[in-house]
Amino acid sequence: MADQVIRFENVGLTFRGGGKSVPALDDVSFGVEDNEFTSIVGPSGCGKTTLLRLCAGLVFPTTGTASCHGRPVTKLNTEVGFVTQESNLFPWMTLYQNVEFPLRVRDVPARERHERVMRQIEMVGLDGFEKHYPHQLSGGMQKRASIIRTMVYEPDVVLMDEPFGPLDAQTKMLLQRDLLRVWDVRKQTILFVTHDLVEAVALSDNVVVMSARPGRIKGVFPISVERPRDVFQIHTAPGFAEDYDRIWSCFRSEVDPSAESPERASAGS
Ligand SMILES: Nc1ncnc2c1ncn2[C@@H]1O[C@H](COP(=O)(O)OP(=O)(O)OP(=O)(O)O)[C@@H](O)[C@H]1O
Ligand SMILES: [Mg+2]
Repeated sequence: MADQVIRFENVGLTFRGGGKSVPALDDVSFGVEDNEFTSIVGPSGCGKTTLLRLCAGLVFPTTGTASCHGRPVTKLNTEVGFVTQESNLFPWMTLYQNVEFPLRVRDVPARERHERVMRQIEMVGLDGFEKHYPHQLSGGMQKRASIIRTMVYEPDVVLMDEPFGPLDAQTKMLLQRDLLRVWDVRKQTILFVTHDLVEAVALSDNVVVMSARPGRIKGVFPISVERPRDVFQIHTAPGFAEDYDRIWSCFRSEVDPSAESPERASAGS
């Protein structure tokens, strides 16, 4: 636990407002170690985004503690990079200006800014589009731009909320490959939210499965597939099928009410 960069300890969170209360998270405990890639999967509304927001200091627990680098998060956490579920690009800025913005805020000198922005833009194949505004970029290009806009200031801890969610299968795989390439070199600590179990297995060291709302932890599954991984061939990688099946058996009853739990099935036989 000492090496855990992110730690949720018995976290409960009930949103209150307008005379209503919505229990979003219930007794959530898990951690992410230094340089580890952890994914969270769970049904819609189970509190995945809320967990990332707790880590970023955008919301605070009703009970329990969310910590980053061993310190409880009690205010906006500027130590983490956050690729949000919605596009975080400024529509009035060009691609170049968008990627440069976090470096300007941090007073990085002009020449270094230019080098770092161009390195990121080239790494994801967006060179030639520097002067384009977000609405002039495709959905996949916008996603790439949002990711490098966070990566450009090299945060050690990165939160990613379904960054490839609405993309077609091919673009998604290309971006997954790019992300793994960046991570293989930089080795940040990444907490990644996805609905896609294949993506979770392909990218992660550990996959956390959550229950339907109020979100609880149903299981944490270490991934055995060796690195470096080829996301295009992930289905045939040794260990993939077993890892996927274990996670799916845990996840299935949350999204498919007709699925029999293994306990019920064995009790009845
Ligand atoms: N600021 C808020 N005020 C009130 N309720 C909220 C707030 N933020 C989230 N919720 C509620 O908390 C629950 C969890 O929301 P959250 O966005 O974390 O889910 P999610 O797992 O990310 O869902 P999805 O997969 O659809 O993105 C939902 O029921 C949501 O309506
Ligand atoms: Mg969400």
